[in-house]
Amino acid sequence: MCGIVGFTGHRQAGPILLHGLEKLEYRGYDSAGLAVRNGSAPAEVVKSTGKLVKLEEKTDNGKALEGCCGIGHTRWATHGEPTQINAHPHVSGNCTGSASGTVESEVVGVHNGIIENYIELKEKLLRHGYSFYSSTDTEVVIKLIDYYYKKYQIGPIDAIAKTMVRVRGSYALEVMFSDYPNEIYVARKDSPMIIGIADGETYIASDVPAILNYTRSVYYIDNLEMARLLPGEAHFFNLNGDEVQKELTEVTFSAEAAEKGGYEHFMMKEIHEQPRVIADTLHSAVQNGIIDLGLDEEQLRQIRQIYIVACGSAYHVGVIGQYVTEDLTGVPVRVELASEFRYRKMKLEKDALVIIISQSGETADSLAALREAKKNGIRTFSIVNVVGSSIAREADSVFYTKAGPEIAVATTKAYSAQLIAMYLFAIRLGEVRDTIKDTKPLLEELEKLPDKVERLLEDKERLQWFASKLGNTKDVFYIGRGLDYAICLEGSLKLKEISYIHSEAYAAGELKHGTISLIEDGRLVIGCLTQPELYEKTLSNMVEVKSRGAYLMAVANYGYYSIEDTADFTVYIPRTDPHFAGSLAVIPMQLLAYYTAVGRGEDVDKPRNLAKSVTVE
Ligand code: M6R
Repeated sequence: MCGIVGFTGHRQAGPILLHGLEKLEYRGYDSAGLAVRNGSAPAEVVKSTGKLVKLEEKTDNGKALEGCCGIGHTRWATHGEPTQINAHPHVSGNCTGSASGTVESEVVGVHNGIIENYIELKEKLLRHGYSFYSSTDTEVVIKLIDYYYKKYQIGPIDAIAKTMVRVRGSYALEVMFSDYPNEIYVARKDSPMIIGIADGETYIASDVPAILNYTRSVYYIDNLEMARLLPGEAHFFNLNGDEVQKELTEVTFSAEAAEKGGYEHFMMKEIHEQPRVIADTLHSAVQNGIIDLGLDEEQLRQIRQIYIVACGSAYHVGVIGQYVTEDLTGVPVRVELASEFRYRKMKLEKDALVIIISQSGETADSLAALREAKKNGIRTFSIVNVVGSSIAREADSVFYTKAGPEIAVATTKAYSAQLIAMYLFAIRLGEVRDTIKDTKPLLEELEKLPDKVERLLEDKERLQWFASKLGNTKDVFYIGRGLDYAICLEGSLKLKEISYIHSEAYAAGELKHGTISLIEDGRLVIGCLTQPELYEKTLSNMVEVKSRGAYLMAVANYGYYSIEDTADFTVYIPRTDPHFAGSLAVIPMQLLAYYTAVGRGEDVDKPRNLAKSVTVE
């Protein structure tokens, strides 16, 4: 996935576009490009491989490009390698070499998403005399727009609409037509896009932080809609070409919330924001002891089965949610990977609730799973961080977590906020169904979590010290039972995604069914021991691996001091209700991953091959 920006106004577009791309670099960082127009002059295109800084150098921070209307793109390659020729913007004409410079093409555009039938469309265009300079699906779309525009002698909106009917896949598309100076045309399906307006100028971006310096007034463009954008004006159209009216929405979070705030990396800043995020998410749903997640009481009473569907860390929240919900309510819960759920022909219970968890609200597999559930007539509830995102809008009801903008690719604070939402869901369900007689002690315990997380963060130097010993580590195993296993899933993902050390999370009892053969001298095994009734069992698994040479770290509750006889290094977490232990045990695991990656000199906020929001399959 990629990030797109656009601007049409009265100031020079280049620096504004680059500023927006900086804020979106977390979405893709293998190449970037700009196209800027000066009045009716042809667009000037500049592209560069590598991080955005290369494009900044090449364009003198955007100042080298003359003009007040332009589009920009930061790429995470899907179709075609991350080369300069494959970087966006793409043009409808023929070009060679770097595809940079002044372009005489009719249509110039950028795209975030994936066009599934691009090969078939490319063959059609080849038959009509088009030739292709890149291996991207985007060049095909731009040329298809050009084809319809010229063949039918129609306006931009009609040409884009014809293209939208013909392509399959997802897109947030921005195009400029040489016949329409100072105008940008956009279209959207299943990829995020917002449009901001201020002081007679118009901004386009994949995500809010890119335009927050300029405006808080935004339009959310819906699926299968298009817009014609002029300085200070936005006109929206449906697929039939009919104009549709939209309301401007005010964004409530501040630009500072998306900055590093003195930390070296966004990830560290976001780790430290967790006490606040936990408190904000809790207080947004609980007032005077009453939990309101926007769910109907009667419907909660009728649920016979819950499916939690998500990807990556959000899936790990789902696994914890499963343990907590089943334990507190007795309602059966299945946790499903969205990428599997969408293609499984499973028989869904009619009296079920499907819960989709997603930070971005745009993850393609989670969105497809949501639609699959709705198609089957199942009620859907989403737990989402990004306001106005597709999953939030399409679910029957939504609860917004209060993590604020999360920039680091590795999630930390959004994960913590999602956990709170899951706990509250379970408590509310238990309350409605009478399996919890008094919610007060549980809610009081949740209120104490921010302070306990704060205490764990104060101890971070010990983790930094321990991480400094892991520079040459090749494999790590995380083990735990029950809810501790679910915590290990997240700890292991954090470590591998940013430090590139291979790691696995194992249900501790499963080790001896095969994996224990991988344990040898010095292999790091991290045990999680927060569940009182499982402590002895996991401890004995740790003893087993120690006797085969493993080097042991433990994350255990305060008071479990006998662990010192076995573990080489222990982090104690404050006592809490065992259902909520994940919120505490994950903190040292996040810190360990962070410090290990920093120690190995990795780009912590932008790990290789990953992007923040996975809007493609
Ligand atoms: O935006 P989402 O919560 O739907 O994203 C899901 C996963 O892509 C995400 O959690 C991913 O696993 C993160 N890189 C984990 O740090």
